[in-house]
Amino acid sequence: MEAVVLHGGQGTRLRPLTHTGPKQLLKVAGKPVSHWVIDHLRNNGIRDVVVILGDNTPMRVVEYYGDGSKFDVRIRYVYQGRARGLADAVYRVRDVVGDRFLVYLGDNLVLHDLRPLMEFRGSASVMLAKVPNPNRFGVAVIREGRIVRLVEKPKEPISDLALVGVYAFDREIFDVIENLKPSWRGELEITDAIQGLVDRGRTVEYSIIDGWWKDTGTPEDILEANMTLLDRYVQRELQGEVEGRVEGRVTLLPGSKVVNSVVRGPAFVGRNTVIRDSFVGPYTSLGDNCEVLGAEVQNSVILDNVKLHQVSIADSLVGQNSVISREDRVQRAHRIVVGENSWLSL
Ligand code: DAU
Repeated sequence: MEAVVLHGGQGTRLRPLTHTGPKQLLKVAGKPVSHWVIDHLRNNGIRDVVVILGDNTPMRVVEYYGDGSKFDVRIRYVYQGRARGLADAVYRVRDVVGDRFLVYLGDNLVLHDLRPLMEFRGSASVMLAKVPNPNRFGVAVIREGRIVRLVEKPKEPISDLALVGVYAFDREIFDVIENLKPSWRGELEITDAIQGLVDRGRTVEYSIIDGWWKDTGTPEDILEANMTLLDRYVQRELQGEVEGRVEGRVTLLPGSKVVNSVVRGPAFVGRNTVIRDSFVGPYTSLGDNCEVLGAEVQNSVILDNVKLHQVSIADSLVGQNSVISREDRVQRAHRIVVGENSWLSL
């Protein structure tokens, strides 16, 4: 069975971080969100992956994943270009996939067992989860144990069961999409396509999941995902140099150095990052080639090539190649979301 991973879209809610790259490549707990997705697929026995590319620097995605061999999967690419909706993206794989396939939104983190979804017998199968904010999702209405209606981003509170971003389909979905009309937001919605299957009298199976999953659409979502993934997966693995204190579950990749500092886990430090005269607190992910000098950072995601000099930050998301430094002596923890290539003096 193949899985189609959607890597297009605009990522507007994560601007400015998505001005220079797709949101699915933002690193959380040391790996791009879509890398967590590919690992999860492989751990569920899926080794054949089709990645849908959008028009936001698609070559970055191809450079990262290549033919998939480094990730122990086979990856083929299909170009969608402009984001015309999830159903439009799915339609583009009609000549590439077999009779039954999975669709996985590349910005969703769903750590659940996928096997029940993969063993579906109807025309489609979806995962649902109770959410407090159903107007941000597609939702399903269930009556007498069957899905009877699906609505994308409902304005009326018709259901609090959201569609999670992993679906299973047979080829009939392509027939439905062929006749689909764009929604009010101008997109071909996969939610409407699934409604089309229901309208044809087809069975759409579902399972209601509990436990943590995340659509990483906003900076808050990224920070929450970082916290959960560090909590669950980071190991104590010190491959760099330590001339300070490293406490608890901390991964320190080769080339990195901790000097006269405290790093308290769970935390992740990429390659060639220097931490000097600093405190790196729990739930922090630092990218590659960062410099943390005389600084304090906690519960934050700091992407690659960032310099943090003499500052104290918490609950923050800092894009690549940014410099954050301090000018006055005020000792206050700042909370920031900074895009790529920025320069900030606090
Ligand atoms: O997170 C689950 C929700 O995902 C579902 O409950 C909704 O029914 C579903 O429509 C979707 O809603 P979003 O508004 O969050 O979708 P978003 O535009 O963020 O796109 C989801 C992923 O698909 C994201 O990784 C980008 C990618 N994408 C999106 C579009 C519109 C594409 O590859 N091509 C596209 O044309």
